[in-house]
Order: sequence, then structure tokens, then C-alpha cells
Amino acid sequence: MPTEDLAVRFDRVTKRYGDHTVLDGLDLEVARGERVTLIGPSGSGKTTILRLLMTLERVTDGVIHVAGQPFSHMPGRTPGKLVPASERHLAGRRRRIGMVFQQFNLFPHMSVLDNVVEAPVHVLGESRDEAARRARDLLELVGLADKVDARPTRLSGGQQQRVAIARALAMRPEILLLDEVTSALDPELVAEVLDVLRDVAHRTDITLLCVTHEMGFARDVSDRILMFDGGRIIESGPADELLEAPTEERTRAFLGSVR
Ligand SMILES: Nc1ncnc2c1ncn2[C@@H]1O[C@H](COP(=O)(O)OP(=O)(O)O)[C@@H](O)[C@H]1O
Ligand SMILES: [Mg+2]
Repeated sequence: MPTEDLAVRFDRVTKRYGDHTVLDGLDLEVARGERVTLIGPSGSGKTTILRLLMTLERVTDGVIHVAGQPFSHMPGRTPGKLVPASERHLAGRRRRIGMVFQQFNLFPHMSVLDNVVEAPVHVLGESRDEAARRARDLLELVGLADKVDARPTRLSGGQQQRVAIARALAMRPEILLLDEVTSALDPELVAEVLDVLRDVAHRTDITLLCVTHEMGFARDVSDRILMFDGGRIIESGPADELLEAPTEERTRAFLGSVR
């Protein structure tokens, strides 16, 4: 696939902590608008991949490209040579990417609306009026139009996570990263959050990289599922195929453990 059609490309990416190698020469390509779910046992490197894209971690080796441009690196003084990205380069590039984590981390002293308005005003420089208009639309999309003035602490965990989704979308990301967004929720609150995300997936053309143990959700939203083990992709394929007829024994064992 031509580079410019790729939202994300990991080119032989290695990530080490000390002498512990988490990712070992990982190649990974995600097309623009594609929905990809990463599955695999705890410790297999899924969160590390998302944290590298959020620029919370730096690669040890290899290069990450986003939207056809170097992301972890930038052009150096020697033509054709890339050097590790500066903070400034990273700050410019990370705006293309939004993330929702297990923990919602909303500002408790701010209203729901202000939580969503904050970053577009302070990071993107949008006017408050414009950001507030868009925040209301997004809060309606996540089913919280009636909670705009509430404090997050008055909301259920499911409602708080829906605010966090609206907050991420308010930055107009091209790529949305979801890391086990329902894992911290009481079981009865999981469905409302997954329903909102299904809606986002179906109503937008955003590129999705998702880590989840909710296989029904993965099947509904994903074009492709990647099974990780030990920092490597051991099996990948269309969601239905991989879930229904995995070829690898480790994939079968993993699916058996989460179903
Ligand atoms: N900051 C860190 N320092 C040292 N090891 C880390 C750090 N972050 C993650 N790891 C290790 O990297 C491996 C992969 O972790 P992670 O990407 O969180 O896996 P997953 O999300 O698939 O459960 C684990 O062995 C974990 O202990
Ligand atoms: Mg993880």
C-alpha cells in the first residue's frame, strides 16, 4: 500500500526497557480509516504500542510513521537521513492522535462541558464559543446532552468514560487509540460505553487502534484483528475469521480464556 494511504506504519520497531525487549523489530501497518484490534495476553506489548503512538515512550530502534510522515523521527541535516524526533516535532505530530484509557482522568473541579472544551481552546487555539458548540454536539453523540453542566464526580463510571471519549474526539484526531476502555467499569456499565464507541466507529471515518478483551465489540468494529504474544504478531486476519477459526494454538487458548 502507498505510504500516504497508511495512517500508521511501524518499521522494524524495537522497544526495550533495560535488557527487557518488549517489541522486537515489529512491522505494523494500519490503513487510513481502518479499524484494528490488538488482542493477546497481558504483557504482550499492546499498551506499549499505543504509548509509543501517544509519544509517552520513545522507540529504542526502528521508525514509526504516521499519515505517511516520520513520527518518531524527523529529517536530519544529512539529506535522506532521519534523526530521533525533537520534543517540538513530537508535540506537533501527537495532535493527530487521540487516546482513551482505562482511567478517565477527568478534571473533577470542571463541568463536563469544560472538560471537553479545555484542550481545543488551550492546545488548538479554538475560540471558546466554537469549542463549546462542538463539545455540545459531541456530548450529544455520546448520549450526555443533559449532563453538560454536571461535575464528573456526580456521574457513573460509564458516563465519565463517555465524557472522556467526547474529550478525545474534541481534538479532531485522525487516529483514535482505545486501551481497555471498559476494564475499570462495573459490568452493567460496559454496554453503554461500547455502544457509544460502535456509534463513533460507524458514523466517522476515524482510524481506530483498539485494545480490548470484549470480543463481541472487536468483531463489530474491527476490520482486522492482530493477535500478539511476546511483542510479536503471531496471527492476524479479518475479525470474523480470526475469532471463528484461529489457526494458532496460542490464539485458541487466549480466546478460550477471555470468552
Ligand atoms: N515503564 C516500563 N518499564 C519496564 N517495563 C515495562 C514498562 N512498561 C511496560 N513494561 C513491560 O513491557 C511488557 C509489555 O507491557 P504492555 O505493553 O503494558 O503489555 P500489555 O498491554 O499487552 O499487557 C511487560 O512485560 C511490561 O512489564
Ligand atoms: Mg495493556
